Amino acid sequence: MKLLFFLKRILTKYWLRSRLFYRLTLLILFVISAALVIVPVLSQPVTLRLLMTAPDVPPWNRVMVKAFEAQNPGIRLQIVEGPNATNLIEDLYTSAFLLGDSPYDLINMDVIWTPKFAAAGWLVDLTDEFSQEELSVFSAPDVEGGKYQDRLYRLPIRSDAGMLYYRRDLLEQAGYQPPKTFEELVKISKDLQEKGLVRWGYLWQGRQYEGAAAMFVEVLKGFGAFWVNPDTLEVGLDQPAAIQAVKFLQSTIQEGISPPGVTTYMEEDTRRIFQSGEAAFLRSWPYVWPLANAEGSPIQGKVGIMPMIGAEGNTGGSCLGGWGLGISKTTKHPKEALKAIRFLTSQAPQKEFVLEAGYVPSRKSLFTDPVIVAKYSYYPQFFQVVQKAVLRPPIAQYAQASDILQRYLSAALTNQMTAEQAMQNAARETRLLLEAGRTRRG
Ligand code: GLC
Repeated sequence: MKLLFFLKRILTKYWLRSRLFYRLTLLILFVISAALVIVPVLSQPVTLRLLMTAPDVPPWNRVMVKAFEAQNPGIRLQIVEGPNATNLIEDLYTSAFLLGDSPYDLINMDVIWTPKFAAAGWLVDLTDEFSQEELSVFSAPDVEGGKYQDRLYRLPIRSDAGMLYYRRDLLEQAGYQPPKTFEELVKISKDLQEKGLVRWGYLWQGRQYEGAAAMFVEVLKGFGAFWVNPDTLEVGLDQPAAIQAVKFLQSTIQEGISPPGVTTYMEEDTRRIFQSGEAAFLRSWPYVWPLANAEGSPIQGKVGIMPMIGAEGNTGGSCLGGWGLGISKTTKHPKEALKAIRFLTSQAPQKEFVLEAGYVPSRKSLFTDPVIVAKYSYYPQFFQVVQKAVLRPPIAQYAQASDILQRYLSAALTNQMTAEQAMQNAARETRLLLEAGRTRRG
């Protein structure tokens, strides 16, 4: 007590007499209160935001977010759920960039976006962050899909390839092998439909959106046709083989093999019909497999899967899809974003992600990983499918080119134009677009 009294007396004496002491005390008080405000602000976790299609959100949250946050307590991953079409997500990212201050730190990018986003200067150049050795563990087409003019902007987190699903049980019952050509697919479909084993033959994505462009490059390839040659910028849409490709799709609707509604279907619409047991064949991505074989699915254990086929005399081809991560140029957290990319593309989280969601890995070794193969026996063959997959043209004007194709393809599928008219218009507009790009670059 005495001591306290003594201290108080000394302090008061100095306080009153010494200006320096007075100022020092104020400074100390200021520093303490500032620290009380600043420290909690500084220790707030950094939040990295990214946007993705709705069906991707649950597996991301269950696996990626959980694993990353457990190991990086100072960083949060905030997933923003967007619409269920890749082109709509692309539009949202694009408007965010055009408005200037993108609210997204990481960009969850479809393989077709890299040239456009990189050419527009919206992405951080990652070339010097990853050595050749580090990149060599990923499947080559996926790494290529992250490059623009030889610079790296996106690390692949998962690959994708269009596949043909078939009802193994029904084919066996009717004495068929899986089809090798479109002609066989049509024949088997009609027979199974006539026998009353199934309502529809073949389901594909015919709505006017990016999914239809991915589906259509496979049919083009299956007829020996092409869309745009990325090296010469030659457009192949009005060549006879491309017109035949459109006619094939039209015929599936006219002949009742595909439902009339197929022209409005996206991936999930087709999966639901297939999974309810109403169709013999489905063109879709590998994510369908675990859902079709889930407990309670009417077609559990009754499905086969194979790479996309083509027309008689041609080799078919699966479309290369896939997703990866880039960093927004405007992020305030580039270091944390890079850390997240390194973690999320690493072996362990990707393995769990693949097991959980049935996605295709981007890391080569996971295609033959025993745990993965035990769950998805066809993955070792998938590696070859991805290596040989057909690309949508990797050009900076891809979004516009795809938009042109989607519009005219849809016009032909809904009988507003003939296949010839539609493809001639599509080819003309695509040429104008690419020509304008060439002139601008001059
Ligand atoms: C899948 C593919 C993607 C493609 C999209 C089309 O998500 O991975 O590349 O653009 O489907 O719907």
